[in-house]
Amino acid sequence: MTRKLKIFEKAPAKINLSLDVLGKRTDGYHELEMVMVMVDLADRLEMEELPRDAVILTSQAGFLPLDEKNLAFQAARLVKERFGVKKGVYIHLDKRIPVSAGLAGGSSDAAATLRGLNRLWNLGLSAEELRRLGEELGSDVPYCVTGGAALARGRGEILTPLPAPPPCWAVLVKPPFGVSTADVFGKLRLSQIRSRPRTQAMISAIEAGDFRGICAALGNVLEEVTIPMHPMVGQIKDMMLRLGADGALMSGSGPTVFGLVERESKLARICNGLRGFCREVYAVRLLSAPIVQTRT
Ligand code: C5P
Repeated sequence: MTRKLKIFEKAPAKINLSLDVLGKRTDGYHELEMVMVMVDLADRLEMEELPRDAVILTSQAGFLPLDEKNLAFQAARLVKERFGVKKGVYIHLDKRIPVSAGLAGGSSDAAATLRGLNRLWNLGLSAEELRRLGEELGSDVPYCVTGGAALARGRGEILTPLPAPPPCWAVLVKPPFGVSTADVFGKLRLSQIRSRPRTQAMISAIEAGDFRGICAALGNVLEEVTIPMHPMVGQIKDMMLRLGADGALMSGSGPTVFGLVERESKLARICNGLRGFCREVYAVRLLSAPIVQTRT
């Protein structure tokens, strides 16, 4: 009896150490400059070949859409169509990253699906080809295909790898509401941005392995839209710093706030202090290496 092939992929969350919006494009998107890293909070995907022509997605998380609205489902459909794959796939998504949180959980699930199906169906696609497919699914998907520390420009798809930041911890706090990225970008008034992140200073600090420099260069222009809409995001940032985080910032379009912490001994105090305020608090490590594409 032949055993059915089953593979696993991890889909880590990302955080933005800096996020700048340089302008609005004619295609409706914005021209961005972002420094991204991944953390070890991850969804897990299990993929198993189905002999019939179908994509079936299941999850332990009751609130997730499991059809075309889910980016992992869209990714599987895209691969099947583009490469004429007649076989199907059963995907189980163990969802651990909060949704609508600014952590690119959905994009990372889509990227993991692309990596996984490349292995499952022996498609032989390079990382660059997977990133280009990812671009069709969402602006953060190309980054999520390979991860690592990176500068992302354009819509988010022009990627320059950066060295790994020095080892450190991040405390993630997800307030009890979600934020729509399209809504935040829609409300952004470029002429009214008060302070811009120092992207070059962030890159130099990462290249120098300078943890203090990284904390000093944290910046995200989208805070100027999300914090007035949800003052709790600003309150969490203030609390993080008061409890001893070395730097704090909102990730992506929010509402998750992360605090960077160099010494593990500080983590418990920060997490405990914030748990009194928010239910979803995670202590994570920054991932130092890009995601390696493994082959079956
Ligand atoms: O690409 P994605 O579907 O993830 O983007 C979600 C929304 O975020 C877009 O519809 C757009 O409103 C906004 N966006 C943008 N400029 C970008 C990326 C996203 O305006 N570079």
